[in-house]
Amino acid sequence: MTQDELKKAAALAALDEIEAGSIVGVGTGSTVNHFIDGLATLSDRVRGAVSSSEASSKRLAAHGIRLFGLDEVDEIPVYVDGADEIDGNFCMIKGGGGALTREKIVAAVARRFVCICDASKKVATLGRFPLPIEVIPMAAPQVTREIVRLGGRPQLRTGFVTDNGNLIIDVHGLSISDPVGLEERLNQIVGVVTNGLFARRGADVLLLAGAGGVERQVRD
Ligand code: 5RP
Repeated sequence: MTQDELKKAAALAALDEIEAGSIVGVGTGSTVNHFIDGLATLSDRVRGAVSSSEASSKRLAAHGIRLFGLDEVDEIPVYVDGADEIDGNFCMIKGGGGALTREKIVAAVARRFVCICDASKKVATLGRFPLPIEVIPMAAPQVTREIVRLGGRPQLRTGFVTDNGNLIIDVHGLSISDPVGLEERLNQIVGVVTNGLFARRGADVLLLAGAGGVERQVRD
């Protein structure tokens, strides 16, 4: 199977996680795009979606799935999203698509985070994938200096502006032994909007697609 076929298998497995009549939290990315397309086949069973990006909103709307804002919902039973890396404790690096801040906001409201991935995303230690950090544009030079002090190799994502009008700095060269600590440390740098470590609020369920099928793992 190709990587995209594995992404699709994980995404379609997530449809079984959705509660009938509920509002679904929807992430961003190529794996989630398969989930949105699958969701469209259940659209009479879901009330609608809270989206984490303009791209996902557009795809959801094209399928006729009603979009809700966070001011319209009390709770989201399930949030479904992909990841760039996920470790054994279900901590993740996200933000390869640059939607990390809204993803983190919608995930924070959700009762359960269901992560959908192909098997290549499962790692022992986070950090081989460059860690995205969303920054207020005027703060980018200062944030860059702070990251160098922390031992990372920051690289501004060129030609990219987030849905919130900010920049992304991708940090290379990290081996992240303490994801919760680093997530908190990075968020304390002035000018950082958020970083792509999803450790304080990691995934609850992982649907991992490999050659043998989709394995459902639940966080201890
Ligand atoms: C976007 C994300 C995505 O979930 C992550 O980049 C994985 O993307 P894909 O499903 O395309 O591999 O965090 O901000």
